[in-house]
Amino acid sequence: MTPPQAQEVRVLLGARSYSIWIGSGLLEHLAQWLEPLQLGPLAVVISDENVAPRYGSQVLEALCGSGRKAVMLTVPPGEPSKSPLWLQRLWEQMLRHGADRTCFVVALGGGVVGDLAGMAAATWARGVPWVQLPTTLLAQVDSSVGGKVGVNLPGAKNMVGAFWQPKLVVADIQVLRSLPQREYRAGLAEVVKYGVILDESFFAQLEQNASGLLQLDPQVLIPTVARCCELKAWVVGQDERESSGLRAVLNYGHTFAHALESATGYQRWLHGEAVSLGMNCAALLARELGQVDQEFCLRQARLLKQLGLPVQLPQDLDLEQLVQLMRHDKKAQAGRIRFVLPKRLGQVELVADVSQEQVLRALQRAQQFP
Ligand SMILES: NC(=O)c1ccc[n+]([C@@H]2O[C@H](COP(=O)([O-])OP(=O)(O)OC[C@H]3O[C@@H](n4cnc5c(N)ncnc54)[C@H](O)[C@@H]3O)[C@@H](O)[C@H]2O)c1
Ligand SMILES: [Zn+2]
Repeated sequence: MTPPQAQEVRVLLGARSYSIWIGSGLLEHLAQWLEPLQLGPLAVVISDENVAPRYGSQVLEALCGSGRKAVMLTVPPGEPSKSPLWLQRLWEQMLRHGADRTCFVVALGGGVVGDLAGMAAATWARGVPWVQLPTTLLAQVDSSVGGKVGVNLPGAKNMVGAFWQPKLVVADIQVLRSLPQREYRAGLAEVVKYGVILDESFFAQLEQNASGLLQLDPQVLIPTVARCCELKAWVVGQDERESSGLRAVLNYGHTFAHALESATGYQRWLHGEAVSLGMNCAALLARELGQVDQEFCLRQARLLKQLGLPVQLPQDLDLEQLVQLMRHDKKAQAGRIRFVLPKRLGQVELVADVSQEQVLRALQRAQQFP
């Protein structure tokens, strides 16, 4: 069988550099990308109960052979599995399977599995190599780039973690076909985000290709996922450990999104949906501050809506509570909320001196807009 066409994105981090391969039907040909890495004799595949039954055997097959063993460990689907408890259960199972420092980890799943399996890899025997096979759009364009791994503590998301870069990422867009449509669309919010913060012409392409994106047309989706990975890789390459502040641009829309998620107990919206709402709020705040015009806000809202994402804030939200939640966000400093706000399409900046009244006015406008 001839291997399918794939696009490569390099994440350049010195000795920790790695490749992301993006294409359709890549999982079948996994062995081709694994071989040059000279990985160890035991592969520990970590997945969840939605993904493992669909794609597990294919991946195990590609990993086995030439004397290598592969085992599959699964966790229940969903955010609660990204916990110290499940991390410990994985450690215990790895021990039982005879994993030592020569093993490697393969994460097969969405961002939850990626963050958890990455954490297992970062901590096992003080760190073993790992490979990511992201199966949600969010994981393909966001969580599989940049090496952030971790677990949640009760009430403190991503509180325990590490930077641990994978050796390889293979993003097979074919697997997105089994993803619930709502999850897929939520991932598109992060895609739009990259256009707004870094690349005006990419944003324009998304406008032109909205229907192709919604239909998962490989001709559209492969270059789209690749461009997102390239943009995030560029940011991460310059600020791997979030020290210079550049990596903060990726938080566009997220200060609002985190408050919205927290105010609704993480039940009402998927993360990407909250990001979509949050980007609309951020645009309106930038408008309030005179940084962008009405057309900017409308154009962003139009694309998000076209992609089936929510934009207008519902009327039943307690806006004062949202402002208080933002003041207590872990990224706020001394109660001053810092926002990543657009200056124009493709460019954002960090703004620290925003008053609570201005934030509140932006939220009020977001209940009417567009
Ligand atoms: N490390 C990072 O840089 C980073 C960045 C962004 C988000 N994250 C993390 O990612 C997590 C969210 O990730 P997510 O949105 O991928 O959620 P997820 O991993 O929970 O996946 C969403 C749902 O889709 C199912 N699923 C996954 N792939 C499927 C497929 N191909 N077919 C059918 N069902 C499938 C899963 O079982 C789950 O029920 C959060 O914990 C977040 O903190 C990490
Ligand atoms: Zn996000």
